[in-house]
Amino acid sequence: MYRPARRLADIAPFHVVELLTRARQLEAEGRDIIHMEVGEPDFPTPEPIANAAVDAIKQGKTLYTQALGLPELREAISGFYQSRYGIAVPAARIAVTGGASGALNLAFACLAEPGSQWLLADPGYPCNRHILRVYEGRPQNIPVGPDTNFQPTPELLRQHWSAGAAGLLVASPANPTGTLLTAAEIAALADVCRAKNGHFLVDEIYHGLTYEADAPTACAAGDDIWVINSFSKYFQMTGWRLGWMVIPEAYVRDVEKLAQNLVLCPSTPAQHAALAAFAPETIAILETRRGEFRKRRDFLAPALASVGFRITARPQGAFYLYCDCSGLCDDSFVLARDLLEKVGVAATPGLDFGSNAPEKHIRFAYTTGIDRLAEAVDRLRRYFRR
Ligand SMILES: Cc1ncc(COP(=O)(O)O)c(C=O)c1O
Repeated sequence: MYRPARRLADIAPFHVVELLTRARQLEAEGRDIIHMEVGEPDFPTPEPIANAAVDAIKQGKTLYTQALGLPELREAISGFYQSRYGIAVPAARIAVTGGASGALNLAFACLAEPGSQWLLADPGYPCNRHILRVYEGRPQNIPVGPDTNFQPTPELLRQHWSAGAAGLLVASPANPTGTLLTAAEIAALADVCRAKNGHFLVDEIYHGLTYEADAPTACAAGDDIWVINSFSKYFQMTGWRLGWMVIPEAYVRDVEKLAQNLVLCPSTPAQHAALAAFAPETIAILETRRGEFRKRRDFLAPALASVGFRITARPQGAFYLYCDCSGLCDDSFVLARDLLEKVGVAATPGLDFGSNAPEKHIRFAYTTGIDRLAEAVDRLRRYFRR
């Protein structure tokens, strides 16, 4: 008998996985593929973090921790808010989680009533709507475009806020666009959510990976905001599965109960590793790498534009360029497949990020070195004969 829960019908796979499978097949046949579809840093986890994990494991620090995480790691994260942003976030409001994914699961498990609607930017991170679906909430897309720098605005929020709406989730910097919200914009969105008696969740997973101004944290805009972050991207610990969430005080006990039941605790070795993430020598490594990402972006954005891709989102952060390719093709999904087959360049079609003109968009990740990016641009030029 095969009878999965009905909700499974609403959970879509990542289309890019199909491309990735094909890319791996081509590589096995000896083809050289340039991977620009990958949403994770190509750098290994900094050595001080890796060493801390090895030491912890050797010392037998492998038992369950408290459900909300090691007290000293929650304190270290609190200290990071003080040193990096100059604001006080009490450790008692911080939950260590299994990545931002774990945080999103706990937040929606805590807040989503069956049938409640949650406003999400489209294009946006695809897993949000699926995680929401698992907790019987409903995604309500807000189509966003270049006119609002691909971010929701108070006007858009009011326009899309229905009677059944329970809250808003935004990301800054955003995936797939890399666009940021200013402190004033975050505050204005928070005001609308408060006025509507809704929850406000801000995903700050790409914080630290910004290339002009630093991204302001929503923690500064009120202690009623749920702020999600992760060790995956800036700290380059994707596979360690560790993140955190700043929780409005009244909900801390609820999230703790959920964490106790759903996950018991985040990975203990990963938590010990993360204690080294805020050390000055680690931050120095990460800042050098941030500089490398900036160089890549500054190379790739004009190079793609010269091929005919239009970058209509201001890519201020993350490691993505979300390009309008409508001047080059009719369907970005077909283009992505064709680029892979014909010139060995893997990129993610808009289809993975929502239903707002996906066929006109394609995402290139600069998660590979400049020499490979340059080679990719040469191949694109050859493909389009420009
Ligand atoms: C916007 C956004 N949020 C959350 C995640 C989940 O990341 P993780 O669970 O590795 O922290 C990702 C991963 O790509 C993302 O792009």
